[in-house]
Amino acid sequence: MHSETFTIGLGNNNTAVRKEASEDYVAFWAREAQKLTWFKKWNKILQWDPPFARWFVGGTINASYNALDVHQNRQKIAILWEGENEDRKVITYGQLHDHVQRFSNALKSAGVGKGDRVTIYLPMVPELIVAMLSCARIGAIHTVIFSGFSASSIKDRVVDSKSKVIITADGGYRRGSIVKLKDTVDSAIDGLNFVEKVVVLKRAGNQITLGNKDIMWDDFVKNATDKCDAEQLPSEHPLYILYTSGTTGKPKGVLHDTGGYLTHINSTFRWAFDIKESDIYFCTADIGWVTGHSYVAYGPLICGATMVMYEGAPDYPTPARMWDILQRYRVTIFYTTPTALRMFMKFGDAIPNSYDLSSLRLLGTVGEPINPEVWKWYYKTIGKSRCPIIDTWWQTETGGMMLSPLPGLETIPLKPGSAAFAIPGVDIAVVDENGSEVPPDTKGYLIIRKPWPGMLLSLWGDDEKYRTVYWSKYKDCYYTGDYSIKDSDGYFWLLGRADDVLKVAGHRIGTAELESSLVSHRSISEAAVCGVPDAVKGEVIIAFVVPKEGVKVTDELRAEIIKAVRDDIGAIATPQQLYFVSKLPKTRSGKIMRRLLKAIASNEKIGDVSTLEDGAAVNEVQAAFDDLKKQMG
Ligand code: PRX
Repeated sequence: MHSETFTIGLGNNNTAVRKEASEDYVAFWAREAQKLTWFKKWNKILQWDPPFARWFVGGTINASYNALDVHQNRQKIAILWEGENEDRKVITYGQLHDHVQRFSNALKSAGVGKGDRVTIYLPMVPELIVAMLSCARIGAIHTVIFSGFSASSIKDRVVDSKSKVIITADGGYRRGSIVKLKDTVDSAIDGLNFVEKVVVLKRAGNQITLGNKDIMWDDFVKNATDKCDAEQLPSEHPLYILYTSGTTGKPKGVLHDTGGYLTHINSTFRWAFDIKESDIYFCTADIGWVTGHSYVAYGPLICGATMVMYEGAPDYPTPARMWDILQRYRVTIFYTTPTALRMFMKFGDAIPNSYDLSSLRLLGTVGEPINPEVWKWYYKTIGKSRCPIIDTWWQTETGGMMLSPLPGLETIPLKPGSAAFAIPGVDIAVVDENGSEVPPDTKGYLIIRKPWPGMLLSLWGDDEKYRTVYWSKYKDCYYTGDYSIKDSDGYFWLLGRADDVLKVAGHRIGTAELESSLVSHRSISEAAVCGVPDAVKGEVIIAFVVPKEGVKVTDELRAEIIKAVRDDIGAIATPQQLYFVSKLPKTRSGKIMRRLLKAIASNEKIGDVSTLEDGAAVNEVQAAFDDLKKQMG
């Protein structure tokens, strides 16, 4: 662990908040909830029937109302949008409000009502936010799918959520090419009769075919008025489903409520980012992931902030793109990922040094562990040793930040590579297999011991899985699936996943999902994947496959299989390397020994292999890795 500390804050030292939170976390969160606008106050703060929590029971609220109607200054800029192709738009809170009301009315006319699911598959354009807030306004549940996902991934999600409307675009820009989103949706929903309508935004102008379910966005809203009252929804009304990878073959639909989630986002956004009226906030996350939901769409808008929203790749058309954006919009708060930072760092200091980054006052990272060297580079080269860095740990399931320095609240010494402490009102611990807290500086499992407002309601349509995935390892405690250490100063250090989930460029992807895609290829009988450390992406995917009898192993076949996985799941799932082996290392009971694959991949000692069925399999895997290392130099 890194011992150097950096004591740099923003002058805030509000000790009362932590004190209140530690005295009575339930009452504390009720006080935080009052910072939102409620139509009707709750009569019960928390109903906790483990593992199901309901926050602010009896209260009614609306997310779109809190993001738009509550703001008095309609002239204030909400979104400074920049397309990858340099298209630009400035949207005020007033305009956003009008767009949302109009789109809400159009959705209603299309028969969308409370509780209906709407799938959104759009690039990073302001209309994505309009679509989400419109769903929220009328009580429909949005389910946003990252625009890099494939047709079959969309299909799985649309089928699981039974969405009756899909909102997409003709295409989106990525690294100068047009990604044909509408065509992908067409193949995804072929034969899905329950999908009634597809609304298509014109973005890239590529050729599309309109079928009888399809309607262009402009036609969809043509006759709608821009007055639509927000529905008064129960606090526990679902706001959205967001699919995320886990240890099972199919992604899980993480379901979030409204009142608890908004409370968590509102408070963490203010504590972490110290948001001020004049700030220009820029979070680089795509709304297809949870960071984009919580800290692009909802967080900044409920706090009335001005944000930059960028459509494309961070290094397109040049590695200076981000710094150009920061300089041009005078960004004050910048929130990005370790993968992006590692990539920028690789391009060298000269590029950021030639831009004026003096507007920055606060930096953040999210999604994966940040190496201390990268943290320090971020601090010195980008922040010019003036800006605190917040390393925020959280998950799709937690809804919002759970561990992070909070410069909007207090000044603490920052330790590069550590996510510091739990946010107020949250109880997190590092425990051993039996659930006992481990001594300082000892690796253990990260768990959450009390319910928190942003927590998921359940998994969509699968309470049982919700119970087993998160609540079965430790009684009434939420299992995060992460390893962590708490040092003797009480700082948390995240050590990666303890389960079969990979983090590739900060994106979560399950080994089971990859393996089931691999074995669906006609020439493969068995597959095992694992992650190996990568200097930029954190981890990359390595696949081992056993070909079926009689299959001729060639480089063409290897390329074909890699492409098949990519087409099946999406580009983020592309294996970096794929090896053909005649057997996989398995236990006598037939389970793949992933621990062993991981150990070999990370150059660690293999340890006890007495349960291994056939030692020769290890030699084969080891030889494959040696070969890989040689290739990578
Ligand atoms: O392993 C942890 C890692 O990302 C996982 C959650 O992934 P996802 O649901 O996609 O959400 C990512 C954005 C919040 C966690 O279980 N992770 C997230 N933030 C950090 C992190 N690992 C280390 N440090 C972080 N700051």
